[in-house]
Amino acid sequence: MTHFYPAFLDLRGRRAVVVGGGAIAEQKVVGLLDAGARVTVISPTVSRRLDDLESAGTVTIGRRPYRPGDLAGACLAIAATDDRAVNRAVWAEAEARGVLLNAVDDLPHCSFIAPAIHRQGDVAVAISTAGKSPALAVRLRERIGRLIGPEYATLLELLGELRAELTRRVPDARIRTRLWYRIVDSDAIEWVRRGDIAGARARIGRLVEAAEEPETRGAGIVHIVGAGPGDPGLITRRGLERLRAAEVVVYDRLVHPDLLEEAPPWAERIFVGKRPGREGHSLPQEQINVLLIETARSGRVVVRLKGGDPFVFGRGAEECEALRAAGVPYEVVPGVTSAIAAPGAAGIPVTHRRHASAFAVVAGHECDAASDLDWDALARLPALVFLMGLRALPQITARLIAHGMPEETPAAAIASATLPEQRTVIGTLATLAERAEAAGLEPPATLVVGDVVGSAPVAEQDRAAAGAACLSPGPM
Ligand SMILES: C[S@@+](CC[C@H](N)C(=O)[O-])C[C@H]1O[C@@H](n2cnc3c(N)ncnc32)[C@H](O)[C@@H]1O
Repeated sequence: MTHFYPAFLDLRGRRAVVVGGGAIAEQKVVGLLDAGARVTVISPTVSRRLDDLESAGTVTIGRRPYRPGDLAGACLAIAATDDRAVNRAVWAEAEARGVLLNAVDDLPHCSFIAPAIHRQGDVAVAISTAGKSPALAVRLRERIGRLIGPEYATLLELLGELRAELTRRVPDARIRTRLWYRIVDSDAIEWVRRGDIAGARARIGRLVEAAEEPETRGAGIVHIVGAGPGDPGLITRRGLERLRAAEVVVYDRLVHPDLLEEAPPWAERIFVGKRPGREGHSLPQEQINVLLIETARSGRVVVRLKGGDPFVFGRGAEECEALRAAGVPYEVVPGVTSAIAAPGAAGIPVTHRRHASAFAVVAGHECDAASDLDWDALARLPALVFLMGLRALPQITARLIAHGMPEETPAAAIASATLPEQRTVIGTLATLAERAEAAGLEPPATLVVGDVVGSAPVAEQDRAAAGAACLSPGPM
């Protein structure tokens, strides 16, 4: 299978011929003029605008039907007529002269096709569907347009200004290439987006200085980013931006591997979570804090990627305290917490106008005897969410019952929420532990207790399904 060869043509001062004088011809003429071409239009009648362009001396118009010889001296031609016979004749001449031809909506008579273009200054993205669906090309262009706003044109201007200077200042081509990627992957675009061009210049300047003399790198920064509950699509846009600009990613076990792929290829990836089947963190929290501080002090941009939200049982607060004490700049990018997203993914709302106007999020290990929580008060709350509670599920349910919560209170355990292997087990305070055990539920799992469990349409339906203990509604 062969493909169209994509190219951006330099048409400055070159002759281009447009056969046709209607709205589409006019649009093509404008595009060619934008590219600096010398345009001749051939058509017995032409649109008002083409008339005006002729009066302004911008285009030449032959007010007559096409005739062989019209393409003489042209490097490119466009047939914008709805007459296939004319297109055929223009095609024959174009082929004979070696002139590139696009016949609008007439693929057999095209030696090139016009892509859908998204343009921001000198940034241009061209989309082709090989002539199969211009409508799809337009929709894709609109999507790309939402990703690449005017800030990219401004950034490109800044990069263009820098090109010669960088070649001089960083003569080693390999280091220079790496530096270019560091710059475009950095948060300089954020400064541009905020309209702070001086700030963007300064940010880029620091990266250049760091590449010139690594030992003079200034202070880095730590972005503490919530990765969301599991599905990599549930990180925030800001989180993803930070990740894509990271030089070092320090991550936990529950972070989805696809997210690590988002960091630049050369970014260092440091795993500090607990390996499955082993006790404790592979790196104690104090050492993680030191790692963050030292890496940022070496001038690098660190992303500390944590499951869910960094401040919900994620020890993010301790890391912030350590960074603050060390005078290292940091930023917190909140995430979607599994405390709300795991029940949500199973169709269980954590609040409900009829069932729960408050909910508490509790750490599962709080169920041991040393807990200083007021369990009488917890047992009176309409909805409770337990994280890290699967292993202690029998103790949690027993303790709630002992503190006065009715045995028949609905309860659910949702494991691997938002991931393809999501599983939900539904029961009551009296039955959930046994059912979860029987179902072989594995962590990570979130527990929900309260009438909200019974209120969810999905849960209701699943529960009715033959009293099945183990359900796998799975994420949408
Ligand atoms: C150390 S806590 C971190 C919580 C995280 N900071 C957050 O906001 O989701 C880990 C616990 O979160 C819950 N959890 C994390 N990911 C989960 C998932 N995909 N499905 C269900 N529960 C999950 C489990 O209770 C797990 O034991």
